[in-house]
Amino acid sequence: MSERNLVLLGPPGAGKGTQAERLVDDFDLPYYATGNILREAVEQETELGRKAKEYMEAGELVPDDLISEVIAERLDSGEADDGFLLDGFPRTIGQAEMLEKALDGRGRSLTAALLIDAPDVEVVRRLSGRRTCVKNNHVYHTDFDPPKNEGVCDQDGSRLVQRDDDKPETVRKRLQVYHDQTEPLIQWYEDRGLLRRFDGTREPEEVNSHIRATLATLALEAEI
Ligand code: AP5
Repeated sequence: MSERNLVLLGPPGAGKGTQAERLVDDFDLPYYATGNILREAVEQETELGRKAKEYMEAGELVPDDLISEVIAERLDSGEADDGFLLDGFPRTIGQAEMLEKALDGRGRSLTAALLIDAPDVEVVRRLSGRRTCVKNNHVYHTDFDPPKNEGVCDQDGSRLVQRDDDKPETVRKRLQVYHDQTEPLIQWYEDRGLLRRFDGTREPEEVNSHIRATLATLALEAEI
């Protein structure tokens, strides 16, 4: 397979970022997580960050045109020419159409949309214990995946913090937004034959090996 053009779909807290870390190691793909890109923009007080801040704090989606521009820039940067892993984009039908059009215009197409699913009750449990490192966004959980030393990232030694939007009331809002605006993408990608489903309630390593097996099968099918 010449290109691996992948998107990760799923509710907040299903483990998209957790799996992305592993897939980036497995396949050496450029990784674009729109949530991370936006949080960095907010922290650095860029124009994008100023526009996005209010929406993010409320657990709402930022406008499609704002985030679509960010992705188009990445696709044109040259570093994603042999493949990419998108996490958190697309999140609406409008964004999915934009991505399809952008890839089509560059003579490219998506390899697969990887859906990592988890029920709401599990999402709430996970997000209340999530900790993220301030340097590289490495992800931990206080109970399910604790760091060796409390409050310190195993991989780069930086401080672990709780995300602002992981407060219970914001998590509930994010879940509602997911069900209303992002879940329709499951059928959208199913209709195009691109959807692959994974049970996000399994252990992270198990989810990872299922994804790798699926990608290996897709690569074989592409060669036939
Ligand atoms: P974003 O950062 O994308 O948040 P999200 O989609 O809500 O996803 P999360 O990062 O919360 O969850 P995840 O699935 O990556 O879970 P994780 O691996 O960390 O977006 C934030 C905001 O930005 C949005 O609300 C919106 O405002 C804006 N935004 C972003 N993209 C946008 C777009 N395209 N359009 C418009 N607005 C946009 O895991 C969670 C926890 O569970 C961790 O503690 C982890 O250790 C643990 N865990 C993971 N897997 C397992 C497992 N298998 N078993 C047990 N525990 C596990």
